[in-house]
Order: sequence, then C-alpha cells, then structure tokens
Amino acid sequence: CPAMDERERVDCHPEGKAARDRCEARGCCWSPAATQGPPSCFYPTNHGYEVDGAVVKTASGYRARLRRLKTPTMYGGDVETVELLVEMQEEHRLHVKILDPAEARYEVPEAALRVPRPGQAADSPMYDVTFTHRPFSFKVTRRSTGATIFDTSVGKLTFGDQFLSVSTRLASSNLYGLGEHVHRRYRHDLNWKTWPIFASGANPFGNYENLYGHHPFYMCLEDDGKANGVMLLNSNAMDVTLQPGAPDSAPIVTYRVIGGVLDFYMFLGPSPENVVQQYTELIGRPVMPAYWGLGFQLCRWNYTNTAGLREVIERNRATGIPYDVQYGDIDYMEDRKDFTYDADLYQGLPDLVQDLHDHGQKYIIILDPAITNQDRRDGSPYQPYEDGLRDGVFVKAADGETNLIGEVWPGTTLFPDYTNPSTTEWWSEYCQRFHNVIPYDGLWIDMNEPKSFMNGSNNGCESNRWNYPPFKPAIVGRIMYDLTLCMDARQTWGKHYDVHSLYGHSMAIATRSAMSRVFPTKRGVIITRSSFPSTGSYAGHWLGSNKAAWEDMEWSIPALFELNLFGIPYIGADICGFLWEPTEELCQRWMQLGAFYPFSRNHNHREYKDQDPAVFSQSMIDSTRDVMMTRYTLLPYLYTLFYHAHVAGTTVVRPLLHEFPTDSNTWDVDRQFLWGSGLLISPVLTPNTTTVSAYFPDTPWYDYYTGQEVEGEYRGQTVTLDAPMNKINVHVRGGTILPTQQPANTTVYSRKNPMGLLVAMDDSSAASGTLFWDDGEAVDSIERKDYLFVNLSASSTELTCDVVALPLGGPTAGHWAALRYGTVSVYGLALGTGTPTVRAGRVDGPLQTVAASRVQYDRDNQVLLLTDLQAM
Ligand code: NOJ
Repeated sequence: CPAMDERERVDCHPEGKAARDRCEARGCCWSPAATQGPPSCFYPTNHGYEVDGAVVKTASGYRARLRRLKTPTMYGGDVETVELLVEMQEEHRLHVKILDPAEARYEVPEAALRVPRPGQAADSPMYDVTFTHRPFSFKVTRRSTGATIFDTSVGKLTFGDQFLSVSTRLASSNLYGLGEHVHRRYRHDLNWKTWPIFASGANPFGNYENLYGHHPFYMCLEDDGKANGVMLLNSNAMDVTLQPGAPDSAPIVTYRVIGGVLDFYMFLGPSPENVVQQYTELIGRPVMPAYWGLGFQLCRWNYTNTAGLREVIERNRATGIPYDVQYGDIDYMEDRKDFTYDADLYQGLPDLVQDLHDHGQKYIIILDPAITNQDRRDGSPYQPYEDGLRDGVFVKAADGETNLIGEVWPGTTLFPDYTNPSTTEWWSEYCQRFHNVIPYDGLWIDMNEPKSFMNGSNNGCESNRWNYPPFKPAIVGRIMYDLTLCMDARQTWGKHYDVHSLYGHSMAIATRSAMSRVFPTKRGVIITRSSFPSTGSYAGHWLGSNKAAWEDMEWSIPALFELNLFGIPYIGADICGFLWEPTEELCQRWMQLGAFYPFSRNHNHREYKDQDPAVFSQSMIDSTRDVMMTRYTLLPYLYTLFYHAHVAGTTVVRPLLHEFPTDSNTWDVDRQFLWGSGLLISPVLTPNTTTVSAYFPDTPWYDYYTGQEVEGEYRGQTVTLDAPMNKINVHVRGGTILPTQQPANTTVYSRKNPMGLLVAMDDSSAASGTLFWDDGEAVDSIERKDYLFVNLSASSTELTCDVVALPLGGPTAGHWAALRYGTVSVYGLALGTGTPTVRAGRVDGPLQTVAASRVQYDRDNQVLLLTDLQAM
C-alpha cells in the first residue's frame, strides 16, 4: 500500500463501518486515519483497469479497451472489459465516456436530453488529453496554461453493474455547483464533504440532504481566473465526495454512482460565463418567460375559500404594491384532486380569475402528478383516473402490469408515467379541459420527485437489488425508496431505479407540451419543483419548502447562483419563508431581497399566519411598494437578460466572480449578487442591522437611486454602506446602460408607460447596453423575429440607440406604436460650466434641442437627468 498524505486517500469502503478485514477482503489498504475526515480504508495503487493494447486515435478523438486488473470486487457485478471513448467535440468541449461494449446499459435517454452525435475531432482544442496505461487513467489539461481540468490518476476506476466510481483532481479549490442541496456558501467547502444527488422531496433544512433536482454539474475557477465546467451525464443515484488533497497538491472529487455509464462532458470556458454558455449549449438554453412572469407573485397554501382569497387579492391591490400574479395551491381543488376545483369552498373561482384578468393580473394553479383512484365527492367517477387507466398512463409495479399505488394529498394515488407519450396526450387533454373551467395562465408543478407519503407502494417493495442495491449513496432516508416509488417500478424510459431523477423533468416536458396545446401562441409560465439538466428549457424552479429564518434568506443567494449555473435562471425562494412565521423585519428585508429574485413570489404554508405584504405595518408596506416599483422600473433590463440567457445561455443572476474572475476577492462573495453584468445588489441579511458591508471590484459604481458614485476609497475594497430598514443597496456598474420603464401596478400597465435609459459612465466616459422588447408573451416572437433589439452606447457627448432588429409590421404598428423613451439619466458625467444643451430625436428623425425645463444637471454628483422626452 502506498505511503501517502491522508488527505490524498480515496475511500474504498464508502458504505461506512469500515474494518480491516472487510477492507482487505476487497483488496484495499487499511491504516487507521490519524485525523478526522480521511478514510482508514483506501484504494491501493494497483486497483482499477489497464489499457488492453493501445489507446487508438479515431476521427473524433480516442478509443481504448480497458481490462480490469485482477483485484477483488467492491460490490460485485464487475465489468471485466470496458470501453473508453474520447470525443474532442468542439474546441471548448470534450466528451469522455466509459461504457460496457458487450452489453447495452441504461443511459439517459435522448428524449430527456439530446446530445450531439460523434463528429470530427476539433482542429485546435483548448485541451490536451493524455493517458496512463497501468493502472489506466486519463488527464485533461488546458493547453494554454497546463492547468489540470480532470485527472483520474488519484482514485481508481471501478465499473460494476451497480457501483461505478472515478475520482478526479481539480484545478483549484474554487469549486461551485453540484445540486440540489442547501449549500450555505457558494464556494464549496472541500474538507471531506459528501453530497448525495438524487431527486427527493426532503425539506431544505441544510443537513446535506439531496433535494428536488439532480444536477451533477460543477464549475471550477482555476487559480488564474479561467474557468472550466464538468457534467456527469447520469441520472442514477450518486454521491459526490469532496476532499482537500495534500497541501502541495489539489483537491479531489470522487463520484460514486449506482447505475448507468460514466459519461462526462467538460467545458473549457475560459470565462465563467463561457462555461455556462457552453453547458447550456449542450443541455438546452433556458426558456423565455412571459413578461408578466417577471412581475411580483403572491401565493399561500389555504386561503380557506373564495372570500378569503378575494380579501387577500383586494387588500394587496389596495396597497399599490405592484402585483401581477395570484396563485392557487392545492386547496382550490376538490379533495386535492387535479383538474377539479372545490365548488363549495371556492364557489365563483372562475369569476374571481376573470376579475384578476380584468385587473391585468394572472392566475397560476398548482398541479401535482399523483392521481387518485377515489371517486368524486358526488360519487361520480374521477375521470382523469378513469381515462388514465384506459390509456395505460400510470407507472407500473415491478411486474410491468399492475399500476403502482402510493399515497399523496388526495389519498391513494397512481403516478402518471410522463416518459410515456400517451401520458403527455392524456395530461395535455386534461390541462386543456380544465382551462375551459378555470382560465389559468400558468402551471406550478409540485411533488414531482416524485414524492409519496408511503415508502415504495401500498404493497411495500420487493427485496431485490434495485430496491436494496449493494451500495446506497448517502441519500435521505434509510432505503432507496424512502417516500417515493419502488425502484423496480416500470416506466417507458426504464426502471424507476434509473429514471427516478427524470420524473420531474419528464413532467416538465409534458407540461410544456400541454401548455402549447392550451395556449398555442403564448409562452405562459411553468415552475417545477424537481429538475434535471435541460429542465430549464421547459420551466423555472423555486427553492422549495424553505422556512422563515434569516439563514434561509441568506442561503437563497448561493442557490440563485447554482440554479443559474444549472441553466434554470427563472428562480427564486419563497419570499418571507414557506414554513414558520416571519417577523415583520425579516419579511420586510426578504421582500427587498425578493424584489431582485428573477422569480419573485411570496408563499406561505397552510399552518402559518398570513404574510402577504398587506398584513404588515404601513412602513413595511411603503418599503415593499418602493422596492417593487424599483423592480418594475428595471424589468426591461431583466427581460433583456432573459433574452440573452435564452439565445446565448448567459446567466441572469450571477456572482461577482463571473464578471471579475481574476479578482480573487470575488471568489467567495455570495452575500451580494449581480443582475447581468451591470447591477449589483447588496441586501441586509441579518436582524437589527442598518448597514451592510459590500465589496466593490475595481471599477466605478454608482448608487442606483441617486447616481452618486460610492464615496471614498472603495474600489477593490469592502465598504460599509447605510442600509436603513426601508432601503436595499443597489449599485450600477460604470460602463452600463440599463433600459427601464416607468412602473405600474401590473406589467400590463407598466408596459404601456414611457421607457427610460440609465447610463452609468466608466472611467473613460463610455457605456453600453442592449434592449430586447417584444409583445411579452408570444411563443415564437424570437423565432419569427417579431421583436425590437437595440444596441445602446454612450460617450460623454452622445447617446446612441442603434436599432438592429425591428418588429414585423414596423415600429408604429400595434402595441409598439406607443413605445417612447421618457427619461434618460446619466451617472458619472463630468460637464463643463454652464447649462448643458441637449439635443434629442427619434432614431430616424432630426435632432431637436430639448427644452431647458426637461434638463437637470447636478454638478456635484455629476448626474444629468432628462425628463418627459416622450412628448418630443
Ligand atoms: C409542497 C410545496 O413545496 C409547497 O410549496 C406547497 O405549498 C405544498 N406542497 C402544498 O401544495
């Protein structure tokens, strides 16, 4: 056994309870660890596989046969000969796959995620790949710097039927991503942490639970600020263990998956944003939300009845807080049955939805996957169940014949198999029919991990290798099928064991399909609790059943970063917390933060008292109105960011490190965040606090509200800012032009208001930005090119709006006709003495002098403000 630093050991007995005899029986090394963390049972150097013959060069990269070294087994089922395929797919993307050449194994199906077919190797890749032969390992380095991207020589390859493992050395200790979990900090703690990945309906309480989504993707920021990303395309349950490595070495990541194949995609960036673009290029770009989906949304579980719901709607309207969307949670249903509403308690609900529509508001309903086999209240058959039975849409038990029965809100339930095309048809039909009853505008799909209230099924689960695999990752629950379906249940895409984590993803795909039947011409909004790589192309997500606690509010920021990394930028936490009761102070601070969530919704559990903004004091209401007005003012910018995410895969919310990757001070900043590249939000996240410390990278930053540059020596420094109870600090980065619009109480009305531009100058008195604008909801406006796109640029003397795309029918037809710029503010503009003369005009028209009454210049703060320009 090798003499090595303990921190380099890779665990050879990951199921716990290691002892010398059991360790040595599997051919591993035993030496009790002297410190907390390292394993006592670890891989020897001669474990794994060797290259059988040679690594052969192919048109797309390399290929080799690997033969298992004669070592005892870990968990049985060893595949003696495996195949290595290396495809140098793109300059920036490498694909490495290890599979069983003799027998097809389960792989993530094409219908879930379409990956590119092998092609010609890229001409000048950004990476090199090298191999060791005995034991086999491969190493990927960045060609330009030699940085290690992936190196499997540390832990040794294991390829068993239900246990596949490989370790890699990282380029640095700056590791981000992997999900879904509560990571209190964005940058990972690499000190012996194991993160299980497998979709589960556990609550996000921060005890290492695997949560709703399955995202084996990370980004590593190399020491020089270049970034790489790695995805393991595998939907089976897995553990990912992070360990520090020796001090003179680099940290190590170990994957242990219990099925499928080892299928890695590596992305070379080199910027963090490039990594996300390259990742979403592979998994699918994020869906474009409807404009109204960026408005403020209100939800709670249990409004009691129509009168209760009406009261909440009316009192919130009366506050004047912008408010676009109202939700219906499971209490709108008759006995928690999908596609019904409670005609007793929620009598008149369709009229109330009409009233929302009349006020420019929208209604989103929840749908759970589980369908009960119980009759309706009046004794009539529950038709979705009857038709589902007829069409064979439900997940089958192990025998492939009987429908598996579990239990969810409506009682005994069956689970639609959304991987079956007939299910999509049935689901779409019911979504359509129910829309004729309740004219909802969007769908909220919940409990789709899938979560059940019983383990496995009403008959339990058989004792076999799927329900009780030889190695169980550290996932929540004592058994694999804890509060979900038996692992040997059958779906069209495969055994539940393999496709469990694709349940929510397949439901999101089916729901998107249903949506296009219900609204053939509109985008609508879908949010889903469970997700997988590519779900962002169909739906957004919320952070699940959080609680009204300061730490949960704080955690939401790293979570926003992670979901943006995973290609799901339409993301937010339940504002003011789902479980527990917030204090007014917490809720006020959270409304301020939540006004900057891409998905901005206040939601509450049935057992806790109301927390919609209207129930609080007048000062809380005023502060919430102000911050929501700020959000609505900035919606054109946010919407433009979503456009860029949709077409180019960039993030919407991003950490400072994405914009300033070579500034190592940014590498662990996760209490502040950016919208795009230009707007920095620095919220208060602790009680009894009226200041906030904020880091400002070395470039000019201006107070969003006043246009004043941050005072003192602040560049590249952490400074303390005033943050009284009614204020959230927001700063504009020099060099940015933000498109804005005068706010209103819903986006239907704000979209008719004059627009504006906020120009913030950089050190050389220049700034730039973009504006994307369309009708806000057409499903194909981008494909049809029915939109306006403007490149904005400014110098100290000129502001240019270069219209590079015009809507079909021209700028004066339809809803475009009223679009005007009303105000322009310029921050950081140093002008000489005297009153500035400003000339402005329409894009294709002559310039006219702007009346002096519309021009204000604050010489002390170097802010120029032009108002009422729409009248020109
Ligand atoms: C669990 C969801 O996380 C929560 O948001 C919802 O209110 C309840 N299910 C009830 O539908």
